[in-house]
Amino acid sequence: MDIQAIRKTYRRYARVYDFYFGAIFQHGRKTVIDGMNCQPDDCILEVGVGTGLSLPLYPDDVYITGIDLSVDMLEQARARKARDGLDRAILLEMDGEKMTFPDNSFDKVVAMYVASVVPHPDRLVAEMQRVCKPGGELYIVNHFHSSHPLLAGMEKLLAPLSKLLGWRPDLSMDQFLRETDLAVTQIIPVNLFGYWTLLRAANTKQPLREEMVDLMPLRAAAGR
Ligand SMILES: C[S@@+](CC[C@H](N)C(=O)[O-])C[C@H]1O[C@@H](n2cnc3c(N)ncnc32)[C@H](O)[C@@H]1O
Repeated sequence: MDIQAIRKTYRRYARVYDFYFGAIFQHGRKTVIDGMNCQPDDCILEVGVGTGLSLPLYPDDVYITGIDLSVDMLEQARARKARDGLDRAILLEMDGEKMTFPDNSFDKVVAMYVASVVPHPDRLVAEMQRVCKPGGELYIVNHFHSSHPLLAGMEKLLAPLSKLLGWRPDLSMDQFLRETDLAVTQIIPVNLFGYWTLLRAANTKQPLREEMVDLMPLRAAAGR
C-alpha cells in the first residue's frame, strides 16, 4: 500500500477501529508493554500508534511519543489522551519510514500491527534502529504468513485485498528478518491462538558516529 492508500483506509477505520480491533489485539499490546521493563523517565517511541489503544498501558513515569500517518487515527488518540489524562504522551503526524527525529532519541521503539501495513517494512525497521539509542530495544508485534497449509492458503487468497483490508496478510517472517537485519532476542506468540508474533530485538548498532569521529584526531595524535 502507498501512503495515500494507507491514509484513505485508516480514515475509513478510525471511528470503528477500537470496536473491531481493540479487545482482539489487546493481549499483544499488553504483552509488549509488560515485557518492556520500562524504567522511570524512559523515552519510548510508538510508531503507528493508531487510536492510542496502548497508551493507558504504559507506566505513568515514562515519556511516550506516538506517531502515525493518519490524522483521523491520531484524532481518536488525542481524544483518548484528553479523556484519560495521559499527559506524558505526545502525538505527532509523521511517516515511520522517514522520521524527523535525530538519531539515538529513544530508549525503546515499538511498532504494533504496523509492519504489514507500511509500504517498505525494511525502511520502517531501519528508521526504528536509527532513532533508538545504541543498546536500546525494539519491539515489533505483527502477523506473519502462517505455516499452517490451510491458513497460508487463505492468506494468499486475501493478499490481493490488502488495500481494502489495510494490511498485507501474507508478510513472511523469514523474509522480514532477512531484509531488516534485526538482532532478535525473543519471539513470543501473542493474541488468539498465538496467530500474531512479538519480536523483541536489541539495537546493536555502533555507538554514536560523532563520538567515533571525535576520537580520530585524538588517536592520530597518540600515534594509534
Ligand atoms: C493496524 S493499525 C495499528 C494501530 C495500533 N498500533 C494498534 O495497536 O492498534 C496500523 C496503523 O499504522 C499506521 N501507519 C501505517 N503506515 C504508517 C507509516 N508509514 N508511518 C506511521 N504510521 C503508519 C496507520 O495509519 C494505522 O494507524
